[in-house]
Amino acid sequence: MTLRLHDLDLRGFASDNYAGIHPEILDAIAAANDGHQIAYGEDVYTARLNEVVAEHFGAQAQAFPVFNGTGANVVGLQSMLPRWGAVVCTSTAHIHTDEAGAPERVGGIKLLPVETPDGKLTPELIDKEAWGWGDEHRAQPLVVSITQTTELGTAYTVDEVRAIADHVHPLGMTLHMDGARISNAAASLGLPLRDFTTDAGVDVLSFGGTKNGMLYGEAIVVLNPDASEGLHYLRKLNMQLSSKMRFVSAQLIALLTDDLYLRSAGHANAMAQRLRGALEAGIADGSIQGVEFSQDTQANGVFATLPAGVADRLREHFRFYDWDASRNEVRWMCSFDTSEQDIDAFVAALTRELAAV
Ligand SMILES: Cc1ncc(COP(=O)(O)O)c(C=O)c1O
Repeated sequence: MTLRLHDLDLRGFASDNYAGIHPEILDAIAAANDGHQIAYGEDVYTARLNEVVAEHFGAQAQAFPVFNGTGANVVGLQSMLPRWGAVVCTSTAHIHTDEAGAPERVGGIKLLPVETPDGKLTPELIDKEAWGWGDEHRAQPLVVSITQTTELGTAYTVDEVRAIADHVHPLGMTLHMDGARISNAAASLGLPLRDFTTDAGVDVLSFGGTKNGMLYGEAIVVLNPDASEGLHYLRKLNMQLSSKMRFVSAQLIALLTDDLYLRSAGHANAMAQRLRGALEAGIADGSIQGVEFSQDTQANGVFATLPAGVADRLREHFRFYDWDASRNEVRWMCSFDTSEQDIDAFVAALTRELAAV
């Protein structure tokens, strides 16, 4: 029987989770297979995961594996807030734009979005919504959520994260980080994970795995135990408690061992740089016209505007998404298995389509 149904030659830049499973992760799943283990997180893999997480984030850090990033965000944020709490985030935040209203409808959490030029909050931008404590008419801004790397492919520096933490903590607020692409940030900054999380004042983290070579799974990582309560119950209540948790934990252990998280994300970032570099070279020598970059490329995504119609013709060969169709802005994402040949073929196809405009 043929089990493989898909065409291996179909490659694209739509999302880093179009890629498959990293072979080292697949090995980890196989190694965790066979035999019996206690379900719902009482297994040896989940116990080991907590040791590994402590090595990366500090002795107080505690990991709560979940199925997906939306679950990590919604459950993690619930654990940080009372019923009357609200979250200040960017208007481009995944929790605001891409979670189908789950923070509001499942979590019961009011979001207070703020416009940004580059997907990054600053103390000044946070202040646009961080006010009104004690006013019974206003949802109380008690958490700030930042995304690292951002939805626009940019990365917060350590100083930028710390400035936010130092600003919001005295206001009685805590800091959440959506780290769906945290490994890409570590690779981009060239820093250990704890430098721009625990040590920079982040209280609760959604640690991403799926976009960096896992089959599925992420972890809520509590960095400051005083900032979160009830996760022991909230995961199940939100349908995020995996019975066969050993397989999520085994993947997360593999990702955080022997620098796999860095090797995978570093490669994805390097491929985005290759794409940007090739396009910049083409723009400089005149062979590419009409492409303008709309964001810095600091991780594994390239954002650009194209002449009208080019994106649709190019999509006949490579999948990718419009980011803001009203201004012909597109997003190209690279993953751990994007190859140099993928980039070179894509640049050649784009160059052909632009020449035909
Ligand atoms: C910034 C960000 N956060 C969270 C997620 C996780 O989403 P999912 O629930 O699809 O795993 C994503 C995935 O697109 C994302 O880009």
